[in-house]
Amino acid sequence: MVLNFKKSTLGLGTLLFLILFSSCYYDHPEASTPSDTVVSFSNDVQPIFNANCTVCHPSLVPNPNLSEGSSYPTLINDNYIIANDPDGSLLYQRLLGNPSIMPPTGSLPNSQIELIKNWIEQGALNN
Ligand code: HEC
Repeated sequence: MVLNFKKSTLGLGTLLFLILFSSCYYDHPEASTPSDTVVSFSNDVQPIFNANCTVCHPSLVPNPNLSEGSSYPTLINDNYIIANDPDGSLLYQRLLGNPSIMPPTGSLPNSQIELIKNWIEQGALNN
């Protein structure tokens, strides 16, 4: 009797272990925004500038000029964005608060910051 009881306890323990182990195994979420979704500068990035940045850039702060039509050439030619290198991109660093946060009123939602990061990593195309 005692032996049987021990055996079934062991069996249950093993089963629980397997259940816990397998749930842990499947519990690793991949990146929240799929980075293989192609980000469009004109359809995805510029609207973020229009809604959050152009009230000051360029009227209050001329550089970078983030208004439609001026933003892309300024960002690339004046090295605010380095294609494939978000860490080296001054504009992206500003979104993270380095050296100070943009917009000054508070950080953009993570999803929008992620979108701009993906756009840079995809080569910062004028697409
Ligand atoms: C309320 C006005 C305001 C808004 C809105 C704003 N900025 Fe700025 N921005 C400034 C000011 C003022 C400076 C200069 C002072 C400083 O560097 O913090 C600046 C500086 C910057 C710089 C550094 C420029 C340089 O040559 O060093 C970048 C890049 C920048 N902003 C990007 C953005 C982006 C991107 C947004 C929108 C997500 C944004 N800003 C929204 C006022 C604003």
